[in-house]
Amino acid sequence: MPINKKDSRIRVLMAAAEVAPFVKVGGLGDVTGSLPVALKKIGIDARVIMPLYGSIDRKKFKLKKIYSGLEVPSGRLLIKINVWQAKIPGTAVIAYFIDAPEYFEYKDVYVSGDNSERFLFFSLAALYALPVLGFEPQIIHCHDSHVALIPDIITVSNLEYLKDLKTLYTIHNFSYQGKTKPVTLSVGNLNRQSTKCLSIDARDGDINFMVQGVLMADLVNTVAPTYAREITTSFYGANLENIIRRRKEDLYGILNGIDVKFFDPGRDKYIKHKFNVRSLNKKTANKLYLQKKLGLPVDKNIPLAGMVTRLAWQKGIELFTERFARLDCQYVFLGTGEERYEKHLASLARRYPDKISANITFDIGLAQEIYAASDIFLMPSRYEPCGLGQMIAMRYGALPFARRTGGIADTVTPEVGFTFKNVDENEFFASLKKALRVYRDEPKKWRQMQTRAMKKDFSWNKSAKEYVKLYKKLIKE
Ligand code: GLC
Repeated sequence: MPINKKDSRIRVLMAAAEVAPFVKVGGLGDVTGSLPVALKKIGIDARVIMPLYGSIDRKKFKLKKIYSGLEVPSGRLLIKINVWQAKIPGTAVIAYFIDAPEYFEYKDVYVSGDNSERFLFFSLAALYALPVLGFEPQIIHCHDSHVALIPDIITVSNLEYLKDLKTLYTIHNFSYQGKTKPVTLSVGNLNRQSTKCLSIDARDGDINFMVQGVLMADLVNTVAPTYAREITTSFYGANLENIIRRRKEDLYGILNGIDVKFFDPGRDKYIKHKFNVRSLNKKTANKLYLQKKLGLPVDKNIPLAGMVTRLAWQKGIELFTERFARLDCQYVFLGTGEERYEKHLASLARRYPDKISANITFDIGLAQEIYAASDIFLMPSRYEPCGLGQMIAMRYGALPFARRTGGIADTVTPEVGFTFKNVDENEFFASLKKALRVYRDEPKKWRQMQTRAMKKDFSWNKSAKEYVKLYKKLIKE
């Protein structure tokens, strides 16, 4: 039979807890929602599989049920699942959904407490669903610790069709490791004796999903070259630096891209005044609009610093203190997360309503308005595997002001933004003062930096090719 070109494409199934726009909590969802699209464009048959959470709008996303009542033996139970299918909106990329109400009918992606059982079941079910998808992947591309036991399940299983499957494990955040008691393993038909790696891992009384992914996957990568180096050190290694070092030879750093079609100030449906690199004056109109909307003094000359983020320890929120309100600058925050940070920002905003606006909510439209309005984008992160905010900000002519770590170090060069070195409030404050001086005293330089930032290429084109190289390595092995 002649080889059909279509059939010779590399076939990859990505497994993940979040895929935008179906559900998204953070940058993980952005990546799993846009990387397969970029891969498809360069000839890879990339698809995704995720849990069907209660919050996913089946009508809006046109989900179709493709299989009912598939039996998945999990421990001593036989759990029936349904499999659904849709396309990532506006693309030809197929997404599959595992419908297991006992685990995923909750609205939220992550529930409080231990999520291991839910995602271990999802990992198992995704593999059991393979024969009904009408798609035979050569590679399972696992994203983050939720699905990090897929390589273990494949190794242990005696299902014939799993035998030749290769795995790539992508670490989006080395600190969210997923720990659970060894008894939970039975959900994935595993136990502490299943593999040598599990038995060693179980010695300290728990199983660490991240450890399993790192040690058991055929290849491992993180989402930026600098972060790949950082996690082998004790400062960034989250107590697993020795584990990751064992995979040094198989560890790659591939910078994330962003969806440049969605994040385009010239076409963004969420912003009032569309603009591009030649019409930067219109950016000012967005600033005036946002100041008014959020009740800040309306003044085009006062610099506006924005921050759109998950409010987590990682993000360095507490480096932002009361004294920043004394600088000639307005601050707009948007995000939700840990209560201590929500309270911290809300209380600062109450005390300095003319300087600080704290929006403790999740609002895609407001996020876009902030990128469009801001002169500066704040990211004082303790660590930042890649960080998408700084890249989005640059597209919108907002200059990043960020801590030099992980993907920030790889993307924010002095020509396009400002960085500082240490997790230190004084340093953060002093460096911001310097950046504000450039804004005030060197408008020409500022404008040049904005222009360069907006022209930078943050599309997936280059990175998608890097992933293809890893896929090729895998199927050659
Ligand atoms: C995580 C990381 C972030 C990265 C994103 C996508 O959210 O914290 O730095 O950009 O994953 O890989």
